Amino acid sequence: MERINRLITNRDYRHYLAYNRKEEENRYFCRHQFEHLVSVARLTYLLLLEEGNSTFIGKEAAYAAGLLHDIGRWHQYRFGTEHEETSATLAEPLLEEAGFNTEENRLIIKAIKQHRLNLEEDTGNRHISPLGKALNRADKLSRLCISCGAKNECKKISRQPQKERLIY
Ligand SMILES: [Fe+2]
Repeated sequence: MERINRLITNRDYRHYLAYNRKEEENRYFCRHQFEHLVSVARLTYLLLLEEGNSTFIGKEAAYAAGLLHDIGRWHQYRFGTEHEETSATLAEPLLEEAGFNTEENRLIIKAIKQHRLNLEEDTGNRHISPLGKALNRADKLSRLCISCGAKNECKKISRQPQKERLIY
């Protein structure tokens, strides 16, 4: 996990998390801070392991996708941009600095861009990679809606897998 530890101690990475924290200081609904990113990283890897895709993709790539997928969230609060695109743009130099190669970088960036797709409805002609699919599912599964105090007001609750029971 050497590259992952390089990534999470990167100065710019810490800045983006600090911006997210600041923007969500008074947020009532789900937050997008380090704890969420770590949960998503672990679940992404777990899902890949269960699906038998972990040899091809690897633990560090799975963790990198999870740890980076929401780093541009603050930009959405401030400027109304789509955070999957901002997160992907910000992630690229961080991945390079951490030592990920071009092919891994490409795979992780694509997964970040696809993390908000609705997998049930939006499969269309876009190819979703195993990493993209695992990240997308992990993002939803990371939320413990079953015990969330905001679930009655949450617009996403009908699509959340753990609204009534714990799955992971
Ligand atoms: Fe996100």
